[in-house]
Amino acid sequence: MSPQQKALILPKKRGNFKVGSRSIPSPGTGQLLVKIRSAALNPVDYKIRYTGIFVTHYPVILGVDIAGIVQELGEGVENFRKGDKVLAHGNFSIIDQGAFQQYALTFATFTAKIPSNQSFDSAATVPLGLNTAVAGLYGKNLGAGIHPPWVKSISDHEPKKPIVILGGSSSVGSYTIQLARLSGFYPVVTTASPNNEDLVMGYGATHFFDRHLSGNQLAAAISKVTDSPIRIVFDTISLPETQSVGWGLLAQNGILVLTLPASVKEDEGKGRKAVSTIGSPHLPHNHELFRSSWAMVEKWLSKGIIQPNNHEILPNGLEGIIGGLERMRMGQVSGTKLVAHPQETQ
Ligand SMILES: NC(=O)c1ccc[n+]([C@@H]2O[C@H](COP(=O)([O-])OP(=O)(O)OC[C@H]3O[C@@H](n4cnc5c(N)ncnc54)[C@H](OP(=O)(O)O)[C@@H]3O)[C@@H](O)[C@H]2O)c1
Repeated sequence: MSPQQKALILPKKRGNFKVGSRSIPSPGTGQLLVKIRSAALNPVDYKIRYTGIFVTHYPVILGVDIAGIVQELGEGVENFRKGDKVLAHGNFSIIDQGAFQQYALTFATFTAKIPSNQSFDSAATVPLGLNTAVAGLYGKNLGAGIHPPWVKSISDHEPKKPIVILGGSSSVGSYTIQLARLSGFYPVVTTASPNNEDLVMGYGATHFFDRHLSGNQLAAAISKVTDSPIRIVFDTISLPETQSVGWGLLAQNGILVLTLPASVKEDEGKGRKAVSTIGSPHLPHNHELFRSSWAMVEKWLSKGIIQPNNHEILPNGLEGIIGGLERMRMGQVSGTKLVAHPQETQ
């Protein structure tokens, strides 16, 4: 029998998770086999479990945020060695690439080394949140399409242009704030609950407002901070109520970047656009952008240009993920990422 591992298996649509055994896969061309030390949880994981969206083939292994140790190298992989500590963006659409198991295959192009100033746990909080911020700000098709500041050009930055980021304490929000600073936006205005004000200012926001303000109150508060037109609002939460607030803040020809499908209607005359972004590097139209951003991840983390999210470790290995997803679904997780240790599964 091939070597076995433990995995958190979702056997059927809207079924119940169970910890089971499955074989450890071998890496194909351009892939790595990673022993997963830390796997972070994301809202998409509970949404798939409860609504059945996105996944067509079962059984499935959910989870996309991976940090661990390289065990084997596939053909053509040159920039990694066995034993390297890495973070990677997994894929719930392919069973060998899900994060909620003890070993997974990752693509070298969407894997980066973990610098010595970061732990497996902190590194696991990065992939999907950062990638969604990258896609939303810099994606040409499903984003605001601004120039990535790490790619050389004549106009490298967005100097002194304002940006509003709704939901700065969310994982996507935290990375959007940090990339907005890297791109030179100013002011970088964000919303969160008051207890997360220090957190979002620590990520680099220049102005914080309580997320419970009405759209009119928020617009009035922002008008005291800048009189420049707001051409980009990144609504990292994208509930109908936040979309409507974001839409109302937007200047003519502005773009509302969303993480969920649009509930606002694009208008004639004013030329405002709403775009729903997708933070997966595995989609063909995202490949080029993410190849370049993943080449930066190790440096961003080592130099503190990108700061990972706060995290909380879940008990009981893979089994602990079940309760963690339920807490996320109930809205009980604020300003932090839940992280599981698959190797601690009983
Ligand atoms: N399209 C994609 O590819 C993609 C990728 C990743 C995520 N997403 C989606 O994007 C959303 C955010 O994901 P995430 O992982 O960043 O979430 P998360 O970190 O789990 O979000 C938790 C945070 O949301 C904040 N929040 C909740 N309601 C808010 C509101 N009305 N206004 C402002 N902040 C609010 C809370 O802030 P306070 O505690 O400060 O109140 C909390 O800190 C989810 O719906 C997720 O499914 C989509």
